[in-house]
Amino acid sequence: MKSNTAEKQVHEDLREFNVRKEFPCEVPDTIPEQMTVPGFAAANPFVPELDPYLFRSDLLIDVLGWHMKRHKRGGSAARGLMLTGHMGTGKTSVIKQICARLNIPVMEATGHSTMEYSDLVMTKTVIAGNIVPMDGPLTIAAKHGYWFLFNEMEQVPQGELVGLNSIIEGGPLTIPENGGQQINPHPNFRFIVTGNTAGMGDQTGLYQGAQMFNQAFLDRFFIVEVAYPTPEQEKMVLETTVPNLAGVIRDKMIEFANEVRKGFVGNLDTGEPGSLPVTLSTRTLINWAEDSLFFALIAKARNQNPLKYSLDRNLGYRVDPVTRKALHEIFDRLFGKG
Ligand SMILES: Nc1ncnc2c1ncn2[C@@H]1O[C@H](COP(=O)(O)OP(=O)(O)OP(=O)(O)O)[C@@H](O)[C@H]1O
Ligand SMILES: [Mg+2]
Repeated sequence: MKSNTAEKQVHEDLREFNVRKEFPCEVPDTIPEQMTVPGFAAANPFVPELDPYLFRSDLLIDVLGWHMKRHKRGGSAARGLMLTGHMGTGKTSVIKQICARLNIPVMEATGHSTMEYSDLVMTKTVIAGNIVPMDGPLTIAAKHGYWFLFNEMEQVPQGELVGLNSIIEGGPLTIPENGGQQINPHPNFRFIVTGNTAGMGDQTGLYQGAQMFNQAFLDRFFIVEVAYPTPEQEKMVLETTVPNLAGVIRDKMIEFANEVRKGFVGNLDTGEPGSLPVTLSTRTLINWAEDSLFFALIAKARNQNPLKYSLDRNLGYRVDPVTRKALHEIFDRLFGKG
């Protein structure tokens, strides 16, 4: 971790950004024209790369509202942000794309079943044959005022997370390896987690390994549910990310995606299980669309259907043959046999 002037500069030069202007939204009118949000004048190497992105206004306002409340009201308003929802709904990317536009540096970590609190606060590296302790991602974020993005936090055992209570609510970060050293978080520091079950554990059987969190832990979060985009929103997402795709194909792909999702989730109200063991995320949809364009020439020359060819490479080949057949049946029904 370099302590360079770029890092300093990014934190000295706060800047207000006009939300409607900076964030392409599906319904820009729902965003007040004069609304601004604080970010930084300059980027540094930890600011995520800017991608073409379509923000959903509700989700954008939820995240920015949480950020601004802490900014305006100070440390007493500190709490974490939890984004919860099915895989590939856009939880991680919405944070990174907000930060990309506001020049906010992000430190990321991904939870797993053997992760320990200490993995977040301290790492070790080898320099000239010696093991040298270094700040972990959470410590770097807390010290420098970056956003800390903790993906799949529900995979981490609950006991390891208790140590985070203090930093989530704006208190000091304790580093046991440094004799219990305490670091007061920078005012620009933010703590964000993403997961699939809102800390309720795997109630549907879809997210194995997800731990249940106690209410005292969840009490420290502003919780935002992220659903799959509606077909209208997803249409705009595809227009933004894969602009060369023909409209009629795009609409059918979205229809296909929603049929697969319904088949995967089943009926959560009645508890009726889904008929498909796989779902189709916005991530897969975008890749499917991009790859279809790429394979269009090659597959056609070989008398293959480029849409089906690309579908298999993005979804079909990661499921068993029976499920693949079911996917092909949906495909044939929507796109015609090919
Ligand atoms: N609104 C959007 N506009 C453009 N691209 C999007 C949008 N939503 C999602 N994507 C793209 O879809 C992919 C999946 O999104 P992301 O990684 O944010 O999902 P996630 O909810 O974090 O998934 P997981 O639960 O698997 O971690 C990313 O490549 C992202 O860029
Ligand atoms: Mg994610």
